Amino acid sequence: MRFPKGYVWGAATSAYQIEGAWNVDGKGPSIWDTFSQAGLGHIADGSTGDVAADHYHRWEGDFDLLKTLGVGAYRFSLSWPRIQPTGAGAVNQKGLDFYKQLLDGLAERDIRPAVTLFHWDLPQALQDAGGWPSRDTANRFADYADIVFGAFGDIDAEWLTLNEPKTLAFNGYWYGSHAPGIMDPNAAAAAVHHQLLAHGLTVQAFGAHNVKGRIGPVLNLTPVTPTDPAAKDQTENVDAVQNRLFLDPVLKGSYPTNAIGTENGQLPADPDQFAALVRDGDLATISSPIGMLGVNYYGVAGVDLNGTMVKIHKTSSATWQQIWAPGLYTLLTRIKRDYKKVPIIITENGIPDDPMQNGLNDSARIDYLRSHFQQAARAIEAGVPLEGHYVWALIDNFEWAEGYTERFGLVNVNFDTQKRSPKKSFDWYRGVIAKNAVAPK
Ligand code: FCB
Repeated sequence: MRFPKGYVWGAATSAYQIEGAWNVDGKGPSIWDTFSQAGLGHIADGSTGDVAADHYHRWEGDFDLLKTLGVGAYRFSLSWPRIQPTGAGAVNQKGLDFYKQLLDGLAERDIRPAVTLFHWDLPQALQDAGGWPSRDTANRFADYADIVFGAFGDIDAEWLTLNEPKTLAFNGYWYGSHAPGIMDPNAAAAAVHHQLLAHGLTVQAFGAHNVKGRIGPVLNLTPVTPTDPAAKDQTENVDAVQNRLFLDPVLKGSYPTNAIGTENGQLPADPDQFAALVRDGDLATISSPIGMLGVNYYGVAGVDLNGTMVKIHKTSSATWQQIWAPGLYTLLTRIKRDYKKVPIIITENGIPDDPMQNGLNDSARIDYLRSHFQQAARAIEAGVPLEGHYVWALIDNFEWAEGYTERFGLVNVNFDTQKRSPKKSFDWYRGVIAKNAVAPK
């Protein structure tokens, strides 16, 4: 199956997961530093991202790997507390210098940057002041975006405002499994709205600075299906929570009415409290026109009569990930059907290593990627304006609450020696990119 000329193949990472250097050159602490360093059993293997893949010191070698792979684009994130240590006021020039080096390093290798402004590493000082449940964090974010666009606005890139606002809001403020470890559905609902507001304000700042390239959010979306014909309403509620709570405000300027409440499958926050957060003009800001939509796709879920997401397909070694490649087609064609036309990039797609496989022979990853690339090609044939596909991740990294126990990289990292070793999937993906086509099997 061939892809259109100009289709962009990429690989992705994020700052906290690979950089290390957590307190180097003036960087301030983030909520992930605090959360992982607390030693309270938040991280499966008790690890932290203090060193991670030491990309801060090894980025040149990692960029050479990108070059060998042949990607057209590389998605990475800026660490807000590296650039603005307390999330307000003073700028850390050394932080900006580090990212300038990265951007120059990509230009030298002719690789287009896809820059995520925020991939979960909130400055700890802002969490201390209330974090995402506080509206002021959205204003602080807009100031930070101003700094970034002032420094790098002449660089032609895909600019991505926030990564997966759903995961940060739900895992971080509702389930407590991610930083900052809070368990309060009302806080989670507020974190949704204020992240989306931050997104909208950033899109406006992008326009005001006349930045080159395009801007959009990165949303992780999960197609859901009922496991029982009687679970129709429950499934619609879960779809509202998982997908429409993010797609609707950004692309339609409204919130779904069935996402928040006490029915099965809803986010159990107080709907009136949520409505009171949404001030006049917020939805207009949030729906400011975007240049592209970033979609992270990992899998699907079934929904039962309790409105619980349940297993209907086999999972990868990440138990949350139900592998179902046709779900990617379902999702992309649904976006085309239900929303206004916007270019789409798959900003993340991948699986962790299968523990049953040995070392670098990651044939399960190859099967996963092949089947998902095929579904992407089908979606393009069906008229979806899909322009690129980035694999998560370029290298093994700190997988949040799973620490170093889940390895998503095309390249293995030995975290004792920091040695990089490309896996079989790296060579396979290189072939796909070179041919701009994927074989049936
Ligand atoms: C996504 C995150 C990314 C990585 C993958 C496996 O939810 O955006 O950082 O952890 O999952």
